[in-house]
Amino acid sequence: MLGFVPGLGGVPKGRSCSVLRVEAAPASRKGLDLKGVAWKGLIGIVRAKIIRDAEQKHRIPWTKSVQWVRDQKAVLEKEEEALTNPDVDYPEYFLRKFHSYEDGNLDVMAVEELDPATSALACRLYEPEIVSGDWEYQEAATELRNQFLEQIGSYQSLYGGNVEPRRILDIGGSAIHSTEPIADYFPTAKVTVVDLSPKYLALGVVRGRQKGLLDRIDFLHANAEYLDQFIPNGSVDLVCASFLLHELPTTATTEVLKQVLQALKPGAGLAITDNDPVHDAKIPKLVLGMHYLTEPWKGQYSKLDVQALLEELGFVDVVINQINRKHRAILARKPD
Ligand SMILES: C[S@@+](CC[C@H](N)C(=O)[O-])C[C@H]1O[C@@H](n2cnc3c(N)ncnc32)[C@H](O)[C@@H]1O
Repeated sequence: MLGFVPGLGGVPKGRSCSVLRVEAAPASRKGLDLKGVAWKGLIGIVRAKIIRDAEQKHRIPWTKSVQWVRDQKAVLEKEEEALTNPDVDYPEYFLRKFHSYEDGNLDVMAVEELDPATSALACRLYEPEIVSGDWEYQEAATELRNQFLEQIGSYQSLYGGNVEPRRILDIGGSAIHSTEPIADYFPTAKVTVVDLSPKYLALGVVRGRQKGLLDRIDFLHANAEYLDQFIPNGSVDLVCASFLLHELPTTATTEVLKQVLQALKPGAGLAITDNDPVHDAKIPKLVLGMHYLTEPWKGQYSKLDVQALLEELGFVDVVINQINRKHRAILARKPD
């Protein structure tokens, strides 16, 4: 996710998210697992603060939003069943506890909280505008996405001859929070969301239907490390990846980027946005430690020299720009 997102291992699923329950970790053979209890307690405190700030400071209707997803249970299950690829083999790194959700990106609670948690992350970037009442939370989310889209637009006009991409992939596109702005920005394009979580994709279908976008956005349940099993080589005009890379170990990032290069048409672009390691280096150690515990691959991502990796794999014209105080855009293209 775009930073620390609150889940709470041990909270029974289906319980109201605003009710905080911290359950004791199982006692180890030698006695009580004090570290586990302390950890859950700390996560519980952070989680409660995030939800309180979201509802009170950022005016995000967290509880209502969670309830809305719960109300869609039957349709979500139907969509999930329809789009799930039974042949998908989940990699070990994806099955880990993540964002403190017991089942990571496959957790029902992660799906329920995805929308308000995504809004909260954008609001934390633009706290003064939100707190002063100048902006509502939706404007913070729009601003964050626009900063990335502007980078894509500038790169396109510099290296892409201003040709409108028609076939776009949004890898790690989840429930279309990143996909919708891309589809709006390129109104003639067809965008495919590729994601390993069928639960997020099912929510994406429901949200996409509500917004009348299903004729332009489709959904592929797949590991982006194996794009070539689904996407013909040299068939894509633009690949976007918003906040995917920090969720991957470097080995997986390398595989994904290799596959992206293969999928792109000659000359076509790759646009990534994610955390800026320069900002992360300024985060207090205790807080960063919590990030690493809830996002196990963030440390590898921060240390990775993405520019060198992209060039080594054969991408050209790699450009990296900071887009706000926490995030950067990475743009590159396949040689002509
Ligand atoms: C932090 S979310 C980003 C969601 C969205 N792009 C956004 O900007 O709001 C990262 C997404 O990547 C997905 N993901 C993680 N590993 C993946 C992989 N190997 N292949 C495809 N999707 C993956 C997760 O399921 C999750 O939905």
